[in-house]
Amino acid sequence: MDKSDINCEHRCDRHDQHKKGKSSFWMQDSDLVFRKLDLQSGDFFLDLGCGPGDYSIRASQIIGNSGRVYALDRNPDSIADLRNKVVSEGLKNITAEVCDISGPLPVKDGSVDICFLSTVLHSLNLADVEETLFSEIRRVLKPSGRVAIIECKKEVQPCGPPIDMRISPEELEGIITQYGFERISLTDLGYNYLIQFEKAPEILPDQCGQTSGDIVLRPVGVIKNRIVKPFLVADGNGLQMQGDLEDALGKSGEMLEEVSNIIIDESLAEILEGIDEYSHLIILYWAHKVPEDGRSLTKVHPMGRESISKKGIFSTCSPARPNPVLMTVVRLKERKSNVLEVFGLEAVDGSPVVDIKPYVKDFYPQEEVRIPVWMRQLQDEVGKVKSRNQM
Ligand SMILES: C[S@@+](CC[C@H](N)C(=O)[O-])C[C@H]1O[C@@H](n2cnc3c(N)ncnc32)[C@H](O)[C@@H]1O
Repeated sequence: MDKSDINCEHRCDRHDQHKKGKSSFWMQDSDLVFRKLDLQSGDFFLDLGCGPGDYSIRASQIIGNSGRVYALDRNPDSIADLRNKVVSEGLKNITAEVCDISGPLPVKDGSVDICFLSTVLHSLNLADVEETLFSEIRRVLKPSGRVAIIECKKEVQPCGPPIDMRISPEELEGIITQYGFERISLTDLGYNYLIQFEKAPEILPDQCGQTSGDIVLRPVGVIKNRIVKPFLVADGNGLQMQGDLEDALGKSGEMLEEVSNIIIDESLAEILEGIDEYSHLIILYWAHKVPEDGRSLTKVHPMGRESISKKGIFSTCSPARPNPVLMTVVRLKERKSNVLEVFGLEAVDGSPVVDIKPYVKDFYPQEEVRIPVWMRQLQDEVGKVKSRNQM
């Protein structure tokens, strides 16, 4: 059963009998409520589940014609009733609309100063609607906007909803603060309470685009081979090649002829299912031999060649980079259970594997690609040394 079908009329009314009904307005000191709401001339007051609209009318008088009240309720009779009052009292700054507030709110982003819900939340199935409702409220509030909620105290009283429908201020706080709000005040209204929350500041992405803290990479496996030293050694001063190019490429050429084993964590073994159908794979691994100070380099001489002016790390294939994730396309020889035997992996023995993807030629540009002159020269040199070594 929808909770709102339960009769929760507020029959503790202190004032005139004819003012009894589905409103808490007459149950408490409304001057106290509005003092606490601290509305200002020109404010935008959004009354969700406005019912007969007593709060909306009072708010409209305080904020004046430079302000605006938007009163929403899913009950068409309440809205019709409020519209009649608006006309008969000549109020120019209230708009009343039929709307189910558990869905998207027909209100512009960042436009509302105070979003007000009086004795509405207990009638909703909060567990089902809280995410949409409070996210929507957060969306429509201005950066320093507030949400003000009146609810019945969670205690047995001669009026109002049964105790199991009531929500305590602590329960409300526990829910609402999950959606980017901070509690700013709690006021005792007798039968009820008024609790107010402010929209918490956005957590803006930092300059690296992270929303919080570090990114955690979990290695999925390890590389085993005979390459004990990296071909390019990095430290805080830059890159140095081990020996000369001929030497280094000679040694690494020999190694590349050999098989490297990529041992995947046994608990993830099924992650490899289907991989044998590809001839080539892209291996992303962590250059664990790059020291911490190598990670702060921003420019290097490509391949440690001082004859080539320093280039920004991102225009080089330097292993020393802020996040030393390296990539090699390898040829798959065979998969043996959780071990991939591959050719052409130039990673150092013990490198943690970060990720593996299939190499699909068509994913990459098929047209002519442009590279800098210095890179072309380096590649030509590497090509010549390799072919000499093969002779
Ligand atoms: C107890 S009355 C309170 C009315 C008013 N806020 C006040 O305190 O005077 C609860 C109001 O919430 C409205 N309501 C309940 N669920 C709603 C929903 N999903 N969407 C819009 N209004 C809703 C009801 O129609 C009813 O008018």
